Amino acid sequence: MLYIGVVPANTHAPQRALEDRYGRRISYLRISVTDRCDLRCRYCMAEEMAFLPRAEILSLEEIAEIAAAFIARGVRKIRLTGGEPLMRRGAIGLARDLGRHLATGALDELTLTTNGTRLAEEAEALREAGLRRINVSLDTREPALFRYITRWGDLSKTLAGIEAARAASLAVKINMVALKGLNQDEIEPMMRWCAEQGHDLTLIETMPLGEIDDDRADRYLPLDAVQRDFESRFTLTPLAERSGGPARYWRVEELGLRLGLITPLTNNFCADCNRVRITASGLIYMCLGDEAHLDLKAALRSGGRRALDAALDRAMILKPERHHFAIRERDASPAVARHMSVTGG
Ligand code: 5AD
Ligand code: SF4
Repeated sequence: MLYIGVVPANTHAPQRALEDRYGRRISYLRISVTDRCDLRCRYCMAEEMAFLPRAEILSLEEIAEIAAAFIARGVRKIRLTGGEPLMRRGAIGLARDLGRHLATGALDELTLTTNGTRLAEEAEALREAGLRRINVSLDTREPALFRYITRWGDLSKTLAGIEAARAASLAVKINMVALKGLNQDEIEPMMRWCAEQGHDLTLIETMPLGEIDDDRADRYLPLDAVQRDFESRFTLTPLAERSGGPARYWRVEELGLRLGLITPLTNNFCADCNRVRITASGLIYMCLGDEAHLDLKAALRSGGRRALDAALDRAMILKPERHHFAIRERDASPAVARHMSVTGG
């Protein structure tokens, strides 16, 4: 018997969901709010950086408009990144603006990656804007090493920011870039500290993004070896959850810690990739490890929402099947010329 059922109306079903040539649905958008930063982490930036001219940066209204276009096409999660997103004047206003999509149910999650230097002032406002979780970059809890890695950062500010986040009931995930010969010995103390404080911890391998003053090959610490070392001393239970990115998660039973490992170089995660990134100047990059991009700012300024929508369709065709990362031999140029701070971490 032929039965024609009633399809329940999903009020938030996107008109035309964004899907690439490999059938991957794009549900996660990362927006670099600014390429500027008040720190200069050695693995991320050169000491002297040429930042984008202000005239090239999207206005906050344009960012909100682009975000709305993505949400209408099925994006459910947005992360504000940079650079340091809280460096941009109006960042909180933007968060509030995007937070309205949480209230309507069109968006599941709005979150932020920050270095924490301004978090003590902004944590409460972020919570009010609708954020529930944030990522804070913290590679060391040794003040002198923190100053060395960031070139001039003050650890106490970031720690105060993390404390303020907790006071504002924002769940904190600490991002720690694993650096051979620098913070390697601090990985385990960081795990214990995060467990005590109730933070999640994600360890990240250095990625070959943009020219820096140091040689990344000197600092590259492959996390598969770190993981094997943990497994000999702790019970690591793999967690099923995936965020559609390079992170894989474990519970470290002895510590009661949720631990993520981001291993773009030692693992291939591209088949489930669900994300795209927008630079502060309005370019959409389809992959952190690929040069293919398209100018959404030009589309929006010349043809409004229609042209923007058409540009999103074109962008889907550009998404590569996989990234082309590799930390190559000493002195080789980076695999991808642009810094993480441009594309958004
Ligand atoms: N490789 C790996 N991680 C990086 N980050 C910035 N640049 C790089 C790089 N080249 C980190 C920051 C932040 C996260 C978003 O990315 O420390 O925690
Ligand atoms: Fe700034 Fe983050 Fe890059 Fe450090 S890693 S320089 S905090 S953008």
